[in-house]
Amino acid sequence: QGDVFTYDPGFTSTASCESTITYIDGEEGVLLHRGYPIQQLAEKSSYLEVCYLLLYGDLPTAAELEKFVHDVTHHTMLHEQMYNFTRGFRRDAPPMAIMVGMVGAMSAFYHDSTDITDPWQREVAAFRMIAKMPTIAAVAYKYSIGQPFVYPRNDCDYATNFLRMCFSLPAEDYMPNPILSRAMDRIFTLHADHEQNASTSTVRLASSSGANPFACIAAGIACLWGPAHGGANKAALEMLEEIGTPDRIPEYIARAKDKDDPFRLMGFGHRVYKNFDPRAVVMKQSADEVLDLLGIEDNPILQVAKELEKAALDDPYFADRKLFPNVDFYSGIILNAMGFPTSMFTPIFAVSRTVGWVSQWKEMLMDPKQKIGRPRQLYMGATERDYVEVEDR
Ligand code: SDX
Repeated sequence: QGDVFTYDPGFTSTASCESTITYIDGEEGVLLHRGYPIQQLAEKSSYLEVCYLLLYGDLPTAAELEKFVHDVTHHTMLHEQMYNFTRGFRRDAPPMAIMVGMVGAMSAFYHDSTDITDPWQREVAAFRMIAKMPTIAAVAYKYSIGQPFVYPRNDCDYATNFLRMCFSLPAEDYMPNPILSRAMDRIFTLHADHEQNASTSTVRLASSSGANPFACIAAGIACLWGPAHGGANKAALEMLEEIGTPDRIPEYIARAKDKDDPFRLMGFGHRVYKNFDPRAVVMKQSADEVLDLLGIEDNPILQVAKELEKAALDDPYFADRKLFPNVDFYSGIILNAMGFPTSMFTPIFAVSRTVGWVSQWKEMLMDPKQKIGRPRQLYMGATERDYVEVEDR
């Protein structure tokens, strides 16, 4: 009736918005941030420089970058009351649950940066979210393992600060090897933004009503949590650990192809990429570097990953469906080697993706044509009928 709607189960063919931030060509395996290829940014840039690029549209001058890094660094501390808020969770609460709760709670702690009609408050909200997310993720981790919280320091770069807040102890300070800090920074860069993925679309839709920015980012974190999206890095590593040895790979390849088996190869396939995910290629190189540094280049999990990738790419089922490793296939191997439990993989993805969510939130709010989002449906239910009294049913 009325307008005719086309139904697309995953909205991959209908544009949901205009944006100038990230471009993806799924057929060619291209990912550009404001026109710059992800491979060049991962090799030559830093996460905070990429944050500046995503937020403001171009690479900063040296002076602009220095001020941006200073301003982000000086927003990394949390309101002290938020640490008490965290102590209300059960100790076994998943770090993702704590992150959703804490970021949602920011809407109650940072009243002076929630009026989205005020450009200054928008800017402060953006800085607070990008700067405080590593502190929140580290707090969630420390709380889940019963260790004291570690405060951020202003003399550390973004990735080093995060690793210190996760692994330092009162009895023994932890200062990561620069190669590990660089690998962590690169993981942040590789996950920074990715066009209109499910969690970013969640943030845009929530924000389109004018809702509190922190609450909208909490909605994005909730969406990212799912195993089909940001939860895939955790599921991919758990799958590799379950496979255990290369001789068991054929069994899992067969399961992934079996329509009666819900099992899928985690870290494989993508809603948009029908070629290699360019981020996965960089991530694989980073995995080799980190494991070489840590002297575990013969890491059995990495061996299984490489054998599994080869077996899948040689199999017509995956080739015909254009199923390639995605960004989540190798990231878990690096994080595992750094000492993170799988429960921290998606929180780390959330830390990185915050700048993507915030950049697109700002872009949408600054668009004068912007209206509240209102997806429609293809109605498949009953046609109109009259009420039947209960005694007549
Ligand atoms: C992320 O959108 C983004 O940009 C997301 C992200 C980002 O940066 O924000 O890139 C991050 O979420 C990466 C994706 C992480 N998820 C996983 O790795 C989970 C495993 N992958 C699958 O669940 C799946 O590939 C999806 C959800 C990622 C993509 O699903 P699609 O494109 O909708 O594919 P589909 O479900 O339509 O499947 C097409 C065919 C089907 O077979 P047929 O019905 O044609 O016979 O391919 C099969 C599927 O059964 N298939 C798989 C498979 N993925 C798809 N078979 C085995 N293993 C898989 N992983």
